[in-house]
Amino acid sequence: MRTRAAVLHGVGQEWRVEEIELDPPGPGEVLVKTAFAGLCHSDEHLVTGDMVPPQELLDTIPGGTIFPIIGGHEGSGVVVEVGANVTKVAPGDHVSCSFVPACGICPPCAQGKQNLCDLGARTFGGGMITDGTYRTHTADGRDLGALAKLGTFSEHMVLADASVIKVEPDLPLEVVCLVSCGVATGYGSAVSRAEVKAGDTVVVVGCGGIGSNAVQGAAAAGAANVIAVDPVQFKQEKAMEFGATHAVGSMEEAMPLVNDLTWGRMADATILTPGVLHGDLIQPAMELTAKGGTVVATAVAPMDQTDVKLDLARMTLSQKEASPNSRIPELLMLYRQGKLKLDELITRRYPLDEINQGYKDMNDGINIRGVIEFA
Ligand SMILES: NC(=O)c1ccc[n+]([C@@H]2O[C@H](COP(=O)([O-])OP(=O)(O)OC[C@H]3O[C@@H](n4cnc5c(N)ncnc54)[C@H](O)[C@@H]3O)[C@@H](O)[C@H]2O)c1
Ligand SMILES: [Zn+2]
Ligand SMILES: [Zn+2]
Repeated sequence: MRTRAAVLHGVGQEWRVEEIELDPPGPGEVLVKTAFAGLCHSDEHLVTGDMVPPQELLDTIPGGTIFPIIGGHEGSGVVVEVGANVTKVAPGDHVSCSFVPACGICPPCAQGKQNLCDLGARTFGGGMITDGTYRTHTADGRDLGALAKLGTFSEHMVLADASVIKVEPDLPLEVVCLVSCGVATGYGSAVSRAEVKAGDTVVVVGCGGIGSNAVQGAAAAGAANVIAVDPVQFKQEKAMEFGATHAVGSMEEAMPLVNDLTWGRMADATILTPGVLHGDLIQPAMELTAKGGTVVATAVAPMDQTDVKLDLARMTLSQKEASPNSRIPELLMLYRQGKLKLDELITRRYPLDEINQGYKDMNDGINIRGVIEFA
């Protein structure tokens, strides 16, 4: 079938919305009509090149490049058709997309660590995780990759059933979209990675789509002090609405505040969720954190920098959230109970054709989260 998708043809280019060719779902695959796709900062890292693997690594994948690629790894939709052997979902089911597939049977999955599923090893390059071939092609017949084996910036998607999680049909699909990356990543950074406990002092650096949810996670876990750090005034105000107790413009400003609040002991955890993780953010984060405390590096670091920064990139990509099959329903339950703010995360909605405006607005700091709303 023909569908429309936002495709990136190379570093430094704009997203181009174009007609693409989509094959029917094969065994273990499902056809999904996309409802919403979130404009996460991670897709922007492809445009800037920060998250494009260095050429030595690219040489190891078929074709030697990840381009052209359909963007988007945060999304929700409705199952239209299922291929052979699919029992997880049926046509009509509402699903959240998981940017790390969860096969359920590999050793990490078997240990309940679905975020480390062996199938997730190849986020970039190559075709479907089911058999390695492509379901997506350019209009002129070339194979087309899909970010995180999803490509949610597309009106329809063919996905491995390991990449979708069935959700209750009465939940708003835009909310279901947000939990698939931003909420799960941010909330999980506080609750699972930093293991925030009642009474803790937590600093969250960068309060966009991910950081806002780290703030919510820390507050939900009972932190006594949640200090939001963001240079943008609007983000600081929103962070206070999401549960921060204090908001400041920089880590330097946070230093005396955290010092006062903790009688010099400093924070139990500092969570780094700025748009781009640069090596120079680590040292001040360490200084904000108490002895025995935890620094969580969630933001994505440029892949092509020094060894330290490469390690950071790998660190953030290898242990980022709890198992999606359990975390996503859990987050949606908290939403249903009014304990997690999700509607409030969406600042603006865009049609697919305005995706570049959406990313401009993210970079201009006027969105907590922008989403693409499909017809
Ligand atoms: N590890 C993962 O699995 C994972 C998943 C999703 C997103 N991410 C990454 O998390 C990061 C945040 O994503 P997002 O969608 O929330 O981005 P965003 O652009 O919505 O938010 C980033 C925020 O950081 C603020 N900021 C920038 N520099 C700062 C600094 N030096 N100090 C304090 N604040 C600063 C910005 O003002 C903005 O509010 C990105 O790097 C993204 O790629 C990682
Ligand atoms: Zn994301
Ligand atoms: Zn697995």
